[in-house]
Amino acid sequence: MVPIVTIDGPSGSGKGTVSKSLALELNWNYLDSGLIYRCYALLHLNKTKNILKEIENIDHKYSSNDESITYQGQDITEIIRGSEITKLSSELSQMLEVRSKLTLIQKSYRKAPGLVAEGRDMSSKLFPDSLVKIYLTANLEERVMRRANQLRNAGQKVNISELKNEIELRDERDTKRSNSPLKQTKDSNLIDSSNMTVREITNLIKKLVNEKY
Ligand code: DC
Repeated sequence: MVPIVTIDGPSGSGKGTVSKSLALELNWNYLDSGLIYRCYALLHLNKTKNILKEIENIDHKYSSNDESITYQGQDITEIIRGSEITKLSSELSQMLEVRSKLTLIQKSYRKAPGLVAEGRDMSSKLFPDSLVKIYLTANLEERVMRRANQLRNAGQKVNISELKNEIELRDERDTKRSNSPLKQTKDSNLIDSSNMTVREITNLIKKLVNEKY
């Protein structure tokens, strides 16, 4: 079986940056499952027909600290990461019908030599047989500051108290929903990234992978 590292956690926990840097270092494939939900939300908003097929036409290029998402020749990075799609993807992801539709696409990323998959239900639902399971978190203040920096770097204005409310609301939706909520599975390694660098976390996960593989 193709080995997988699953990294689940709330928004701002650092799972995106860590997963990308780990995938690049291991030379494994990378699944940003949140991006699949975001693409679904955008195409749903645009009333696109044949959404599942169109999701495959969305191109995601990334390095450890940068990314670009394009669709039909247009750069959609900003809209995909913006607040409207952030909220809509969280709302739509509560629906079992949406989750089931997006299962196969996510599973198709499992290809040799390995996969780093990040999201909310990677360890619990999508890849319960993964080699190393990580539950990555950070305290709320730290997560708000990270998200604020991301938005500022993307040239957007930030209101910290609004952002904090948004993150708390999204945490609530993502952890309390009845379908595949975000939770730490019993066999996951808990990492609190509040006071750790990306390098430290990546090295720690690599060590766990090397112990098993
Ligand atoms: O990781 P993200 O912020 O890009 O995810 C956007 C939304 O998608 C998130 O609020 C909940 C949903 N999501 C999910 O339900 N299951 C996943 N595995 C990944 C994301």
